[in-house]
Amino acid sequence: MKSGKAGEGGGAIRDLRIAHKGKKATPKRSGKNPLRSGLRIERVPDPNIVVLFGATGDLAHRKVVPALYHLWAGDLLPERFALVCFGRREASDESMRSELRASLEKHARVQPIDEARWKEFASRISYFKGAFDDPASYAALSRQLDAIDASSGTNGNRLFYLATPASSFPEIVRGLGAAGLDHETSESGWRRVVIEKPFGRDLESAVKLNREVGKVFRESQVYRIDHYLGKETVRNILIFRFGNLIFEPIWHRRYIDHIQITVAESIGVESRGAFYEETGALRDILQNHLLQLLTLVAMEPPATLDAEALRDEKVKVLRAVRLMSPEQVDGHVVRGQYGPGWIGATEVAGYRGEPAVDPASETETFVAARFEIDDWRWAGVPFYLRAGKRLPKRATEIAIQFKDVPQRLFSQTGDAPESNMLVIRIQPDEGILLRFAAKVPGLGTDVRPVNMDFAYGSAFSVESPDAYETLILDALLGDASLFTRADEVEAAWRIVDPIMESWLAGPEPHLPNYAAGTWGPEEADALLTREGRRWRRL
Ligand code: BG6
Repeated sequence: MKSGKAGEGGGAIRDLRIAHKGKKATPKRSGKNPLRSGLRIERVPDPNIVVLFGATGDLAHRKVVPALYHLWAGDLLPERFALVCFGRREASDESMRSELRASLEKHARVQPIDEARWKEFASRISYFKGAFDDPASYAALSRQLDAIDASSGTNGNRLFYLATPASSFPEIVRGLGAAGLDHETSESGWRRVVIEKPFGRDLESAVKLNREVGKVFRESQVYRIDHYLGKETVRNILIFRFGNLIFEPIWHRRYIDHIQITVAESIGVESRGAFYEETGALRDILQNHLLQLLTLVAMEPPATLDAEALRDEKVKVLRAVRLMSPEQVDGHVVRGQYGPGWIGATEVAGYRGEPAVDPASETETFVAARFEIDDWRWAGVPFYLRAGKRLPKRATEIAIQFKDVPQRLFSQTGDAPESNMLVIRIQPDEGILLRFAAKVPGLGTDVRPVNMDFAYGSAFSVESPDAYETLILDALLGDASLFTRADEVEAAWRIVDPIMESWLAGPEPHLPNYAAGTWGPEEADALLTREGRRWRRL
């Protein structure tokens, strides 16, 4: 049971995938298409108000509002819904709507925008001018929300979405608390807060932020976002592992040699130089997206899909990751920074030449690390993680390299003998590939590796929702399973802290050390080659 009052939308059953196709592309509801069989059905949330802090910012315009619009256009938001955009500058409801509309033209997943649906959605948007550090703003906001409840029947249910710079999180949470906007009783409706990343910049600041948030909201009201968890292919990892019998028995140190997880991007830091200078690849990707992928690959089967059961298992993995002493960091972690180079046919600047970046910056735009998980399933199996910007292509994938057969009976064609490999392609070209040996046709017994390849694109005739659509819908439904819990975030920082400490204390790194458009510094290859392994070519 979800908390809060049941509204007119509560409990209604809708077909999520049909909805996500958008109006224009909506297939007929005849159920004739066999590829659409077994698709997920989803509840519609209770009537509610979303209060969007940072509504004039990039994230709100690129991700949050397009996701809300798609949910609306797909009949996945209740009729009694309102979006209040909280911002510091002068604006009217009308000007806010037209700004958001312009952003939708650029960022909405389904184009063109459906005029009728937009009109309905736009009529539910209002602008609220306030300052994050001004108690009077929150008191006025509270009155405004009560007024919307009275006029629109939103029943007191509120989702506070913090899409602001991280430095504003504590004061907004304090402001909400001081105005009593967090209070959740059976009469008031539910109150939830969604907090964007980065959640802290090290263990100490994350603990502090958790404490600040915890003074106001109960943990069950807090939804910390890691948008990777909302991606279809990431969600599929659990279904692949625990919805099939045949993989789990071999998901074990007895059969697996090592695991590689890569988050490669061809883009640079774009307009986010100032943010990135403070962040770097370790904080930006490894601490959250990469470690989340690692937990999903390495976790034990949860007893249920309940948010707590699931997150308990993920936390166990993070706690079992062997912590490095600062002295061990050098041998296990490689950092890099891109210099000038080429992405395809385009010449691009080095990181130090990007806007708002210090020309002598030591910020890493690449990180590769070797981890081990000390538990019965994984002892002795290395997990190699890497993430980088300005790599040759965009590709996120998990490669599970199995051990070799105990005896080679057959001669192998090609360069080197290749053992089985399972690749989960998160994006793009989403799919799952299994490499195995096959006999080369002919009179001999030569074998060669071949691939069995499942591609989402051709197996299902539906388009996947954006991660933000999934996550916002879940938050509105009160399902926290795809959000990170306080202890989970802290456990992830505990792994990353010694790396940052060692870098801080160590000598100046030699940066830049890879050209844009290459696969990172040579040392990242050495991390594997010295153990007789190599990165999979992507
Ligand atoms: C964000 C990082 O969390 O993830 C960005 O801050 C990065 O630097 C982005 O580009 C990658 O997300 P996606 O969904 O494009 O893989």
